[in-house]
Amino acid sequence: MKVLIVGSGGREHALAWRLQQSSDLTGLWVASGNAGTAGIATNIDVSPDDLDGISAAARSLRIDLVVVGPEIPLAAGLVDRLDSLGIPAFGPTQAAAQIESSKSFALEIMEEAGVPCPQFRTFRDQQLALDFLGSHQGPVVVKADGLAAGKGVLICDDRAAAVSAVQDCMSQRLYGDAGDTIVIQEFLTGPELSVFAFTDGEHLSPLVAACDYKRLGEGDHGPNTGGMGGFSPPEFWTDDLAMEVADRIMQPVIQAMSRRGMPYRGVLYAGLMLTAEGPKVLEFNCRFGDPEAQIVLPRLASDPLELMAGCVEGRLSAVPVLWDAQDYVGIVMVSGGYPGNYSVGFEIAGLDAGLDARFNKEERGTIVFHAGTRVAPDSDQPTVVSSGGRVLTVVGRGGSLAEARATAYHRVEEISFQGAYYRTDIAAVEGRSAVWVPGPATPAG
Ligand code: AMP
Ligand code: GLY
Repeated sequence: MKVLIVGSGGREHALAWRLQQSSDLTGLWVASGNAGTAGIATNIDVSPDDLDGISAAARSLRIDLVVVGPEIPLAAGLVDRLDSLGIPAFGPTQAAAQIESSKSFALEIMEEAGVPCPQFRTFRDQQLALDFLGSHQGPVVVKADGLAAGKGVLICDDRAAAVSAVQDCMSQRLYGDAGDTIVIQEFLTGPELSVFAFTDGEHLSPLVAACDYKRLGEGDHGPNTGGMGGFSPPEFWTDDLAMEVADRIMQPVIQAMSRRGMPYRGVLYAGLMLTAEGPKVLEFNCRFGDPEAQIVLPRLASDPLELMAGCVEGRLSAVPVLWDAQDYVGIVMVSGGYPGNYSVGFEIAGLDAGLDARFNKEERGTIVFHAGTRVAPDSDQPTVVSSGGRVLTVVGRGGSLAEARATAYHRVEEISFQGAYYRTDIAAVEGRSAVWVPGPATPAG
């Protein structure tokens, strides 16, 4: 099978790395990729958001399966477009991708399916939202309804903060159209967890879970980022919890989507908070997480192509899906200044020599996935330079979380570029909600 991956981050390098190990693969392209994918696939210079360009490339390369990484092309209808051209694509349709592209849609589905989530109200009128805040006590979370590159979620400790968050969305329009509709949610507390399932619209794979670190600074301080690292599996991810999440969250959502005539195919990602009343859904995403994909895909012990084709063709129940039980820790190395202004173009030292497959081979239990990197064209020796905010995800594997963590950090210390920054407390025991005691299960429905 000839496969085209859409996207250019660490998630897409991990997808390429894992797909490349499939015996059914005969050709692999990435649009637009990075220096890491260049070592194992052919990068094509088409933006992931260019639906016409991707469709044309898939057609001319006679691609058998397109695998879509990021949410923007999914929400824009890339899978529908490819479908209409007879090109199979892994990922949800535009209608099904609303589970991520519209928070109010996701909450409607959750209500309909009886899925535990924070109490919420949806508003399209600013005055009604402000009136509601006038009668509400305590902290709330104000969310822009649409895609806002992870920025449209505002945690408000008091009423004044909530009022200005509503105004930022609705009258200041800081998030553009995405904030014309808002959701005001109850503020929850507890450890957070990302849960993923492959689905063909009816059946679910066994779930896999990871924890990620969103804040820039040690101890979860500082600005929000795209993700500074993560680990999998979390120690509190028990068989019982997995069963509860499958039965009360994932399966009911898949069924509700199917009943609506918008079957959900691809990877379903639930962002959960483990509250005293049990797991509740903060958000759904229509794709793999980044950096979670980099720590979860190495755990996939089944053939990835067979699995993705099974999802697309509605026969996932016939495909065995196994997850490796070892521990994986991923550390994200970013450009100095990220997520604010940063400079790029710095040579990255300490990667495996040469632009060959060794970039991508698992050595000493580590894998280095590239994100914002590119091959500098103008030097005699091919060198890799930084080209984005998140530059690399360095993944370590071990028989315990501590071993995986030590392995990952050892590899991180061998790599350097000007201004490189990473958190030193990823998967550290301190500051992590290592103990989560589930409360009494509340009846579903
Ligand atoms: P979201 O994009 O909806 O996952 O929100 C981003 C982050 O905001 C989450 O990972 C949580 O840390 C936080 N968050 C979102 N919703 C809530 C909520 N209802 N209560 C507490 N924290 C929340
Ligand atoms: N790791 C969070 C996300 O991919 O949205």
